[in-house]
Amino acid sequence: MKHDVKRKTDQQLKVMADAPRGPSCTRKAKHSSCCMITAKGDIHDKADKRTSHNGSLLQQPSKEDMHRRPGLFFWTKHFVCGVRAHQDVYLNDLPGNDFNTIFRSLPRFLGNLKNEIGSGFGPCFFFTGTPGSFYDRLFATESLHFVHSSYSLHFLSKVPEGIESNKRNIYMASTSPPCVVKAYYDQFQTDFSMFLKYRSQELVTGGRMVLTLLGRRSNDPTSKECCYIWELLAMALSDMVSEGFVEEEKLNSFNIPKYTPCPAELKTEVEKEGSFAIDRLEVSEVNWNANDDKLCPSDELKDGGYNVAKCMRAVAEPILASHFGKTIMDEVFRRYREIIADRMSKERTEYVGFVIYFTKYL
Ligand SMILES: C[S@@+](CC[C@H](N)C(=O)[O-])C[C@H]1O[C@@H](n2cnc3c(N)ncnc32)[C@H](O)[C@@H]1O
Repeated sequence: MKHDVKRKTDQQLKVMADAPRGPSCTRKAKHSSCCMITAKGDIHDKADKRTSHNGSLLQQPSKEDMHRRPGLFFWTKHFVCGVRAHQDVYLNDLPGNDFNTIFRSLPRFLGNLKNEIGSGFGPCFFFTGTPGSFYDRLFATESLHFVHSSYSLHFLSKVPEGIESNKRNIYMASTSPPCVVKAYYDQFQTDFSMFLKYRSQELVTGGRMVLTLLGRRSNDPTSKECCYIWELLAMALSDMVSEGFVEEEKLNSFNIPKYTPCPAELKTEVEKEGSFAIDRLEVSEVNWNANDDKLCPSDELKDGGYNVAKCMRAVAEPILASHFGKTIMDEVFRRYREIIADRMSKERTEYVGFVIYFTKYL
């Protein structure tokens, strides 16, 4: 039997969200007036309008929206406030993730939520951890009403095969051979189509999904907006090869399992899978240094090189350390910080972020 999300507001709602990274995640999240999906409204009407989707899906956010980086708790809070029903919330990450840190941060999150919206929502949240890859099946058929993934879907399930010729690069770069660029795109297509297929099986008809991920505006997958930050890391590693701290072969055989798609590539996969309508796609530019808009930053936060290298270290260190070994990590990131600081002082440095709103209509 198909479920009607509207009717479900008085019943149990099941939400899947990828897990925040503990306290640092809440610190990064900033509240915004950005529209949030609720289960209200006639979703079937919206789904029927899917054929009229065109360039207007790509929306430039207002100036105030720039530099915002809403995290999981932001979306959870707004979904929760909109629905006001008993909810099961499943927090997903890979099995190696530190779920204890996440669970430890929940009482504070719920306490803050209570302070903000009052105690009216009652004891209606039931959080569960779901370890596993979101490129696999995670939940029972038609058991979810809302899915959110926060800044995770640009990670591929694995390093693409057949990219041995990507020498001295650690990601796609302007010097990468065409076969490397194609292998990355093929892996993105395989992974993202799996994500859509499995979430489609798990969501009820009319269910909603909000995905935030890093992307790119340009059609060129090697454009600076998505590759530059990794080219600078490759530069730090390359310097260490030249100085004999790292074997050249080690660098040549290392690649980051990541892909930042452009809107057209995302839309192609959504259309191929066929059960989701994209209601809206927002694009925003986010400064590499998340603290650049602080009025009175501390001395430490004023140092963009420090901030960005630290943030990139949180993302890349586990992958780098498993390939190059832990012992050189401090030196890699010391050099990376210097290179980033130098570039940030000379040019505009921004990521491109997407927020995409979906309805499952089939
Ligand atoms: C940059 S962190 C984002 C964490 C958090 N969602 C946030 O918004 O701050 C990326 C997270 O994605 C997780 N991840 C990467 N690939 C995954 C996969 N295939 N399935 C589930 N989680 C994955 C990583 O373990 C990591 O916790």
